[in-house]
Amino acid sequence: IRQLQEDGYAFEAVPRRGYRLTGKPDRFDKASILAGLTTKVMGRNLHVLDEVDSTQATAHALAAQGAPEGTLVLAERQTAGRGRMGRSWHSPAGKGIWMSLVLTPPVPVRFVSQLTLVVAVAVCRAIRRCVDVDVGIKWPNDLMVGNRKVCGILLESRAEDERLCHVAAGIGISVNLDADDFPENLRDVATSLKIESGADVDRTQLVCEVMREIERLYGLYREQGFAPIRLLWEALSVSLHRPVRIRVRDGWVEGVAQAIDDDGALDVRMTNGQMRKFFAGDVEFR
Ligand code: BTN
Repeated sequence: IRQLQEDGYAFEAVPRRGYRLTGKPDRFDKASILAGLTTKVMGRNLHVLDEVDSTQATAHALAAQGAPEGTLVLAERQTAGRGRMGRSWHSPAGKGIWMSLVLTPPVPVRFVSQLTLVVAVAVCRAIRRCVDVDVGIKWPNDLMVGNRKVCGILLESRAEDERLCHVAAGIGISVNLDADDFPENLRDVATSLKIESGADVDRTQLVCEVMREIERLYGLYREQGFAPIRLLWEALSVSLHRPVRIRVRDGWVEGVAQAIDDDGALDVRMTNGQMRKFFAGDVEFR
């Protein structure tokens, strides 16, 4: 009988002897992360927390107090991790990368949807460099291995009128979770890098690689705009040219995804032949 505690310690029952420790939690070490960073800005102002409600909340609070661009909040465990569309995000201790990065791009609020794709491409590339898995992007920003999600991205912005004050880019990567670390309702739809690659993944190395890719692509975006990002996104996309179902306010609609446009919206040819744009929503493959 195995017992896995919330703090990451695992025990095994030993007949007549009680319990034996079989697994210790893997812990982030701030100094090791700082030593592994190759960036100038991203991740340099680093906050490593043991437990927090949501790293998004901490990142917003720090940004409101004037924290600089590139401030990174990383937690071993979230007690109220949040996902897109008001959903919660499963964030157990010692096994994932649950982090939020403060960005202050000099663009109006409407460009945040492009920024979401910048982050999705960067994280996807970083994972592919560190782990031998075929991970791709499902529009707009879910990272998938096959039909299972391995990483979610949530960008939340704070603005005054049209002026963007800051963005908290939340990144949740299910790194070293085993199948029984996922609640039953997620087991068919979620996976981890460890499950897919068959080996433990170095979380510190992956955090550093994500920061490196974000710094590069965010720089490219600021210098050259969305066009190069769009090409990279399309190359990693698993959503294009496939029959999809998209959740809309009053149900689902069906079509074939054709492209993303300059605003990061998805162009879909509907079953009646008409083209329609989607700016947000859930996409399922048919
Ligand atoms: C999604 O629904 O796919 C987005 C999930 C985003 C989860 C990450 S984990 C770190 C950060 N803090 C949160 O509360 N959410 C994001």
